[in-house]
Amino acid sequence: MLYEKTSTSPVNIAVIKYWGKRDTELILPTNSSISVTLSQDQLQSKTTIRASPKFTKTRLWLNNVEELNLSNNARLQNCLRATKKLRKEYEDQLSDEIGRDNVIPLSTYNLHICSENNFPTAAGLASSASGFACLVYTLSQLYELPISTTELSKIARQGSGSACRSLFGGFVNWQMGTKQDGSDSQALQIASSDHWPELEALICVVSDAKKSTSSTEGMQNTVKTSPLLQYRINNVVPERMKFMTDAILRKDFNKFAELTMKDSNQFHACCLDTFPPIFYLNDISRAIIRVITEYNNSTGKPGEYKAAYTFDAGPNAVIYALKQNIPDIINLISKYFPPSQNNLNYFSDPYNLFSNES
Ligand code: PMV
Repeated sequence: MLYEKTSTSPVNIAVIKYWGKRDTELILPTNSSISVTLSQDQLQSKTTIRASPKFTKTRLWLNNVEELNLSNNARLQNCLRATKKLRKEYEDQLSDEIGRDNVIPLSTYNLHICSENNFPTAAGLASSASGFACLVYTLSQLYELPISTTELSKIARQGSGSACRSLFGGFVNWQMGTKQDGSDSQALQIASSDHWPELEALICVVSDAKKSTSSTEGMQNTVKTSPLLQYRINNVVPERMKFMTDAILRKDFNKFAELTMKDSNQFHACCLDTFPPIFYLNDISRAIIRVITEYNNSTGKPGEYKAAYTFDAGPNAVIYALKQNIPDIINLISKYFPPSQNNLNYFSDPYNLFSNES
């Protein structure tokens, strides 16, 4: 007998950034964060998992070609172990209710997992977030786990921190939690995907090359060496979390944009404050910041914004704007960065169509 499930998961782009772990094994962050989940039209991970008593070992293929070595991949093992444990508990409970012979012992079967992204992997476009969210979500479907999305987020978090946020659509808060065992470090939805339909994200792929410093390595160097990060954790993020939540709930684009840009700037300032420094932005990224700043200045009204840039651990820009301004922004970007000269690709993506939502 062969059991199979397939699902897709979206990318999320943080507007209050996560950078730093207080526990590298459980992936517990040094600050809370907020993200927007993008629609799956352009960027998504897709995972198919098969379980069979005939499989001699558990195997995983990435992007249809590369077979990963699972034995030295502790994060994957943690996600597999945690979901398998829940399945075993569920099987025991079902056995009590309907008898062991009527329960499929999926928890004892090996798995064949195929995971693919329809966009560049590890290029700072949140591929690990959608990839691990998809893995954990598909496992929960295959195992028919009777648990909430927030509970599931604690497992996805152990694959890649930001993955916990991709389990929800819309606007998502990853509460850092305070407990040592990580039982309160979880994702919660601030507002659903249909809350702010006028908001769109424009993704500018400056480079699809694999990033030179992984987020895992980069953030721990920042934790060890950056005094600015400590200031950010203690004095900046707690207040920003409140203001950002409020801006989202009130659909206040000016406040949302201001906080998004300031938080991206401070995250990259922390990368520069790391010793030795980490450079994720390149000349094109910085030019995009200047163009968006000028575009915002063109309103002539301080505190009024028409677009907000943000950058993760790579040079690619995500520009949030209200739908009516997206054509202007595409014109601006294509004027200053003609694709043929700069190798810059861009596409617009309404953020809100995530179907795995509960
Ligand atoms: O979850 P990771 O290890 O891929 O780290 C993500 C870090 C940032 O993308 C830079 C910020 C964030 O909150 O997503």
